[in-house]
Amino acid sequence: MRFLIENFGCQMNDHDMEKMGSVLIDHGHSFAAGIDDADIVIVNTCCIREKAEQKFYSLMGRLQHVRRKTGLILGVTGCIAEQEKENIFERLPFIDFSLGPSNIHKVAEAVDNAKGNLRTGGFGDNACSPSLFIRPHNTRQGVKGFVTIMKGCNNFCSYCVVPYVRGREESRPGADVLAEVREMAGRGIVEVTLLGQNVNSYNNGGGDLSFPELLKEIDAIPGIERVRFVTSHPKDISRELIQCFGTLGTLCESIHLPFQSGSDRILKRMNRGYTAAGYLEKVDALKEQCPGISLTADCIVGFPGETDEDFEQTMLLMERVQFDGIFSFIYSARKFTAAAKLTGPVPPPVAHERLARFQGRQREITLGSNKNMEGKKVEVLVEGPSKNSPDELSGRTRAGKIVNFKGDPDMVYKLVEVDIIKGYANSLRGRCESAPGGKQCSRR
Ligand code: SAH
Ligand code: SF4
Ligand code: F3S
Repeated sequence: MRFLIENFGCQMNDHDMEKMGSVLIDHGHSFAAGIDDADIVIVNTCCIREKAEQKFYSLMGRLQHVRRKTGLILGVTGCIAEQEKENIFERLPFIDFSLGPSNIHKVAEAVDNAKGNLRTGGFGDNACSPSLFIRPHNTRQGVKGFVTIMKGCNNFCSYCVVPYVRGREESRPGADVLAEVREMAGRGIVEVTLLGQNVNSYNNGGGDLSFPELLKEIDAIPGIERVRFVTSHPKDISRELIQCFGTLGTLCESIHLPFQSGSDRILKRMNRGYTAAGYLEKVDALKEQCPGISLTADCIVGFPGETDEDFEQTMLLMERVQFDGIFSFIYSARKFTAAAKLTGPVPPPVAHERLARFQGRQREITLGSNKNMEGKKVEVLVEGPSKNSPDELSGRTRAGKIVNFKGDPDMVYKLVEVDIIKGYANSLRGRCESAPGGKQCSRR
């Protein structure tokens, strides 16, 4: 049968989608070209903010009609599945299965059950769940690969639903991660992103390798040229990890380090476990170890009790660090979480005004940082034709910035040296001197 997976949410979900795709292919199914061609539709869900949930329910409304007409098999997976558990079958009686993130390895079985008109629910946080160990085939085009190194989160930031829907932290043994990365290198993958909600606490208090040791081992794997990881928690960034940025040639000079707020009072109410000064110390150590390191972050505005003064502290932190980019959100109250019971909601117009000011200033900083790149030579991993002008190529620098330039199609999937001639709000324009063919780069 032909399947389609509609995906929402974070990189963990993107990767879970690849895992489910691989499981289904192993069971004889194949990708559908589109909804009209699909026998199975799976919606992989996110509930990090209310908007994500609303999008899901409106999509399900549309899919209900399609199912009625065509009789397709319809499944829900991911974080909303886990959040709602069996209740989802009351709310969406027309679905055939629902699997939380620790149960996605059952996707082929759930499809088989649906063929026999049997409904499947798979919920609960399973330690040693096979879902953590699925090695997806190369379902995504190209030379970039993703590896889950851990699941779950034990931090319980007061606003966040993730610990409730992704369960407790569990690290995959280092030997298993390394075996997967070697296998990927063997298939021609050159850039690896290590995934986990909180990768800095990888193998905390046990396991065969610490996170810095894992990075060192991956650095030594022939063929791997770039390594990235998401997401880091500021409180768990160790001195050893910071040192890796100065010593490991494959580790890209960029880090995503969410700060959430610049106010100590709010950070405490968020249960983040650090102060603004503590965060800045880590940032300074990273900048010292790796001058020019690109920093990105997440931030929440309008958290319950956030005053104008608290918000100014957030603006100050943003100004002080000069991030290359920030994902910023208005606080959204979530089921199960401690913050949902906090008093002092920020009126929506105030929260929107704060967000607009915050984003406006960050846009200026990002543009300044991109303009600063003009005249510099960078290494670009070419990903394919540019989205907006298909006769051009597009790729990313080690810092993760998008570069568009004229080049030979032979350059796709290669590392080439590019001169940056212009910095824009969201991308860079480059020139590849030695085109066609390009000057290829290698760290070794
Ligand atoms: N594990 C990562 C990211 C988790 S979710 C981390 O710890 O940083 C991604 C981002 O969504 C968070 O960093 C936070 O900025 C935002 N977020 C999480 N819960 C939210 C909520 N209830 N309302 C608004 N934004 C939220
Ligand atoms: Fe959520 Fe905090 Fe865990 Fe990140 S560290 S997933 S924000 S609870
Ligand atoms: Fe969303 Fe679940 Fe990721 S709630 S952000 S898909 S962990």
